[in-house]
Amino acid sequence: MKTFNFLLLSIVAIGLYSCGPKMIYPGEVWTDTEQNMINAHGGGVLYHNGTYYWYGEYKNDSTYHAPGVEWDCYRTEAGGVACYSSKDLHSWKFEGVALKPDMANPESDIHPSMVIERPKVIYNEKTGKFVMWMHIDSYNYSKAATGVAVSDSPTGGFKYLHSLRPYGEESRDMTLFKDGDGKAYHVYSAKGNSTLYIHLLSDDYLEHTETYKAVFPGKFREAPAIFKRQDKYYMITSGCSGWDPNEAEYAIADSMLGEWTAMGNPCVGENADRTFGGQSTHVITVDPENDKYIAMFDKWNKLDLINSRYIWLPVQFHSADSITIEWKDEWSLNDL
Ligand code: DGJ
Repeated sequence: MKTFNFLLLSIVAIGLYSCGPKMIYPGEVWTDTEQNMINAHGGGVLYHNGTYYWYGEYKNDSTYHAPGVEWDCYRTEAGGVACYSSKDLHSWKFEGVALKPDMANPESDIHPSMVIERPKVIYNEKTGKFVMWMHIDSYNYSKAATGVAVSDSPTGGFKYLHSLRPYGEESRDMTLFKDGDGKAYHVYSAKGNSTLYIHLLSDDYLEHTETYKAVFPGKFREAPAIFKRQDKYYMITSGCSGWDPNEAEYAIADSMLGEWTAMGNPCVGENADRTFGGQSTHVITVDPENDKYIAMFDKWNKLDLINSRYIWLPVQFHSADSITIEWKDEWSLNDL
């Protein structure tokens, strides 16, 4: 009888836990299913076959100032790209380092002495491959390139192919956007971060085509995050102030390679002029028919980068294609 009661209680407890409110606490410590802090910075989320995959920079636990560099160049050794999986966007299982650093070759792009930032993964239906693009840089950010890796499985191991500068152009902060027609775009800060480039990728997503558009020349925007709602494209970006927060801005367009119109700061409320201490990295499309989108930001801790936090907030839609993002100390995914 005792065993039966215990079993019954356990079943009820598990039931309550899985149906209970799945709370998000922006800016607070977020642990994985093993109670370790999630280590996936500058990340993005891919939804594939009923599972969400969160990829991000796997940071080493010591932060130091890059020697001989005059600006605020704090860094950690690059630990590759981490992957976490989840069914509900709340409880994340560590799947390991999906793109492992190359410890053996100091000349490699993915040696720990290099910079690996803002990895994003999309799935290519035609080739059946998961394709990862990332910002690859030297310790002082002078290489300004982008790297490509592929895998047969979403959790890796990703095979690193190479880095490149698109048609010789610098490429730093970046994202990927895959449209409903299967076309994919690499969006990156170019020309000393002064201009954003939106670059159509080849059908296998492994190369740039000759089709691109330069947007906001001279405006110095970085940290791009793109999503689509109905027939409109939205892009959230930050200004350029290193690891320190600044004011976000969003822009809208009728097509990826069309005219982008700046719409101002989407953040509202206290600390909105500093993006609540965060910087954009991705927007998760959860349920587009019901306007459910989550904006992801990194709250960098430049003196202890592994202890940077994540700020996830719902995107709210208004008339005339305007959006707002409001601070919340906590919110429930059930109410999204
Ligand atoms: C701002 C970028 O958005 C980050 O990804 C990182 O590259 C820092 N600059 C480095 O200072």
